[in-house]
Amino acid sequence: KKEKKALFVIFGGTGDLAQRKLYPALFNLYKRGYLKKHFAVIGTARRPWTNDYYRDVVKSSIDGMVDSQTKINEFASHFYYQSHNVNDVEHYETLKALADKLDAKYELAGNRLYYLAMSPRFFGTISKYLKSEGLADTDGYNRVIIEKPFGRDYQSAKELDDEISKYFSEEDVFRIDHYLGKEMIQNIMALRFSNSILSAIWNNKMISNIQVTLSESLGVEERGGYYDTAGALRDMVQNHILQIVALLVMDRPASYCAKDVRQKKVETFKALKVYSPEEVKANFVRGQYGEGKDMPAYREENLIEPDSMTETFVAGKLEVNNKEMAGVPIYIRTGKRMATKATRIDIVFKQDKGSIYGEQALADNILTINVEPDPGIALSLNTKKIGQEYATKKTELKNSLTKEQAARVPEAYESLILNVLQGNSVNFTHWDELKYSWKFLDAIRKAWDEEGLPVDYFPNYSCGTMGPQISDELLAKDGNYWIFN
Ligand code: BG6
Repeated sequence: KKEKKALFVIFGGTGDLAQRKLYPALFNLYKRGYLKKHFAVIGTARRPWTNDYYRDVVKSSIDGMVDSQTKINEFASHFYYQSHNVNDVEHYETLKALADKLDAKYELAGNRLYYLAMSPRFFGTISKYLKSEGLADTDGYNRVIIEKPFGRDYQSAKELDDEISKYFSEEDVFRIDHYLGKEMIQNIMALRFSNSILSAIWNNKMISNIQVTLSESLGVEERGGYYDTAGALRDMVQNHILQIVALLVMDRPASYCAKDVRQKKVETFKALKVYSPEEVKANFVRGQYGEGKDMPAYREENLIEPDSMTETFVAGKLEVNNKEMAGVPIYIRTGKRMATKATRIDIVFKQDKGSIYGEQALADNILTINVEPDPGIALSLNTKKIGQEYATKKTELKNSLTKEQAARVPEAYESLILNVLQGNSVNFTHWDELKYSWKFLDAIRKAWDEEGLPVDYFPNYSCGTMGPQISDELLAKDGNYWIFN
């Protein structure tokens, strides 16, 4: 049966994430019939809101998503607000009473999903009280969804995980990486593992290099307080980029199920080469945006220190020493205030060695996965140039989703929340993946922190560009170049 019965308890129910992503995602699941009669949502936060006020907030967050006001009202009637102080044990009794009441009213079979959409420093406390006060003691399932940052290094991530795992088992903890909910990211496995012509060439004999770009045109916006203590390495590389890399280079899983897929991803993270300080220097570069195109420098943004050394751009070369991919350079790049907002993967294949056309240069064979914007794939090949003179030229086979197809693509959060309702962890990060990814990251962070760059090293790229020149030089050293420019 399609309909899922569940009670959602959203900690941070008044927050930005809830309003921008969670309520619209729940509404889409409602429209598509995954949520129907048997669901309820308790929003919690400190401020004293009424149910009516909360429902108005929910309604305005889904404004314009459907014509029928009746449908919106019906949906919003499932939402309840409970003012809650996460540190106050008594508040969990009140919450439990409401949860039990809604469970009976909507016949939810004791299924509960706790969405911790708030600062990770509360994750441990909330998990503890959910257990000790009996909220998570029901006949149905009790699952916890948590959002990044999962720590700021291996040590703090482990402490966080130790706390949560005292109360919830690994299979009930869903660590969200919203990139794993994106349709074209989910397509990586379909491409790799359902096309013999691709799987046959997906190895270090045929692949010259892999490039992953997550460029953003926005700056730090209003998130300076968080971002200045995080930086691009923690904000984007540790999670989104490494997850994409794992999907691109992991060995073939035995089946498309969470256990098998995550096992292969864990092996990949384990095989990710951890760099020495010298290797960090040789393989990673960073940048910070300066003014350009009428946009202010990072150091002039709200809540940013005028001498901040936080990186807003990272480019690097990774190596994964598994059997098929050892030796293939994996170039990654991400930054704020770059020329465009794009998420894109380029797989560059080795050139045909036995060319019969003498000195004539051949174009690279490149498989491109466009995640955003314009989702789709492209493959470039050499074909004959039209005319009498025999020469080759580059031809691109391109497939983009049509407008109508793109409209059917679920939002990342919608896909992921449905996965949680299904108890399917395939698109979520296992603790073991996190563990190795932090070890990899810590080595870079440590080398950088010890290097002590002069304050005037930054800014080193202007707003609206593809990042600092050292990013191009990183590839040029290997005789390569960024395909996406
Ligand atoms: C978030 C980062 O995880 O991803 C943000 O914290 C970033 O800094 C965002 O802007 C990008 O996500 P998307 O889906 O817009 O590419």
